[in-house]
Amino acid sequence: MIPQDFIDDLISRADIIEVLGRRIQLKKAGREFKACCPFHDEKTPSFTVSPSKGFYHCFGCGAHGTAIGFLMEFDHMSFVEAIEALASMMGVDVPRDESDRPARRYDELFSLMGSVEKHWQACLRDNASAVDYLKQRGIDGATAKRFGIGYAPDSWSDVLDKFGKTSEAAERLLATGLVIRKDNGKHYDRFRDRIMFPIRDARGRTIGFGGRALGDGEPKYLNSPETVLFHKGRELYGLYEARQALRQIDQLVVVEGYMDVVALSRHGIDFSIATLGTATTSDHLDRIFRLTDNVVFSFDGDRAGKAAAWRALENALPQVREGRQIRFVFLPEKHDPDSYVNEYGSDAFMQAIDEGIALSDFLIGELSSQVDMTTIDGKARLAELAKPLVNNIPPGVYRELLIESLADTVGLSAAKLERMLGHATEKQSRPAPNPANEGKRRRRESTSGRPSAVRRAITLLLNYPESGHKLDVEMLAGVNRPGVDLLRDLIETVQTEPNITTAGLLERWRHDDKGRHLGKLAAIEVPAEEDFDASAELVACLEQLAAAGRRERIEFLIEKQRLSSLTDEEKAEIRALR
Ligand code: CTP
Ligand code: MN
Repeated sequence: MIPQDFIDDLISRADIIEVLGRRIQLKKAGREFKACCPFHDEKTPSFTVSPSKGFYHCFGCGAHGTAIGFLMEFDHMSFVEAIEALASMMGVDVPRDESDRPARRYDELFSLMGSVEKHWQACLRDNASAVDYLKQRGIDGATAKRFGIGYAPDSWSDVLDKFGKTSEAAERLLATGLVIRKDNGKHYDRFRDRIMFPIRDARGRTIGFGGRALGDGEPKYLNSPETVLFHKGRELYGLYEARQALRQIDQLVVVEGYMDVVALSRHGIDFSIATLGTATTSDHLDRIFRLTDNVVFSFDGDRAGKAAAWRALENALPQVREGRQIRFVFLPEKHDPDSYVNEYGSDAFMQAIDEGIALSDFLIGELSSQVDMTTIDGKARLAELAKPLVNNIPPGVYRELLIESLADTVGLSAAKLERMLGHATEKQSRPAPNPANEGKRRRRESTSGRPSAVRRAITLLLNYPESGHKLDVEMLAGVNRPGVDLLRDLIETVQTEPNITTAGLLERWRHDDKGRHLGKLAAIEVPAEEDFDASAELVACLEQLAAAGRRERIEFLIEKQRLSSLTDEEKAEIRALR
């Protein structure tokens, strides 16, 4: 394994003009360079290289990539060979084995995390109110021990004093996110007066922590920040413990919270895992499906839970296939797996998951609840809504069956529905000018069809990584669109690595399924006039997404009001949203 930060650094320092210039004839054209494309036959140059982006693109044949990609294509090198060639051109060695510097540094960080974890476990034993809190939540000593639960004392410098005596030690604490640095250069403990849940990697090493306030303190949960050890979007809380507890994993239940995992385990259900306050990403699903073909999502019985389930469904579609069982369990309103299992016991929870609805039924049920299926228009609309989803499912028996059962629900033949699914594209690219449908159509376009705000934002970020430095990712909270996860990851990446280039971003996602289309987006021409303000454009995209999220929420609340009634909280919310 070549460390990612080495690749990032290499690609940001590599001069793509030098790499390509040694192999093909480049001609300067403004800020870019042009050449006859080496990948297809042509007489007039349509191959363009941008030194600032570190990226090439052919308008003729669509070939595109970074310096690494070029070496792979042009010199037929493997990925590793391309890195080695680039490194030797730049006179640096490729770090590889465990004894190389970064790895050694990581070892120190891992052992620091382990020591702090042990310290917090000792603090728990000494603190009666923390122990009481756990007891009151139904967690016994054995369960606390299995999950390594501890307590961070109510102090600004407990960890700092014990583990940060020298300035190197304080730097290490900072690198693991255990302390925070103030403007004046002084440090203080991140976690104070909290129940601490260690988050472990596949090998059982603690890489981060989640800390819960004992009472009503805000925020309820505080997590380690992204660090070199800890990447939130990849980790699954409880997976290591599940693998320890079980000889064979027959199924995994995905829940939302730390307490859900711990409570289920306390009741003998040792196969639950939680994402860490983020949506279930395709990275998560990759890891899950490597262990089992049988996955159940059990989210809270409220709207947020339903939204989280729908996002999980969207992210799971590319991975569904025959032989894999994906189900969804919606617990009664006001319950999460923790409260449910504590109130009704493990048999009831097992029964609930056995009765979970299949992904296909969830998908069809949700879609058909959004349209009036007694009308032709409603059926057409359903086909439109289904299209982007169905198209994300790999071709095969599963997809065929899903289309059949969708057709059944609408009361059409599968052949007819397939035609409508195809038909939906045409309609989207040429919307009929019917003013009565204007509002509806605009919404539809933003979920599929033409360049959506998500796609535009990603294109801008790729072309102008620095334009994302000051964005507030929180604007995307509650926005539920395909690609928003990727957008969020990109924003976080350009913020944690302010020097990353277009090429650096592309290399970051090289081995990631979600990054498949990034190269194409990076090749889209973005206006380059003097006064073009990419940051402002990006903010506008995010605002548009946030507004769409709010609109959907209002629609939901109005619909709910029509069907039943709103709680006082929801009434206040709807007033605030309007
Ligand atoms: N979460 C978070 N930050 C918050 C709130 C929640 O990171 N401020 C994450 C945590 O991983 C948490 C999960 O989202 O476990 C679920 O949140 P929530 O449903 O609010 O909490 P519960 O797990 O039900 O927590 P508890 O039962 O302790 O109240
Ligand atoms: Mn809870």
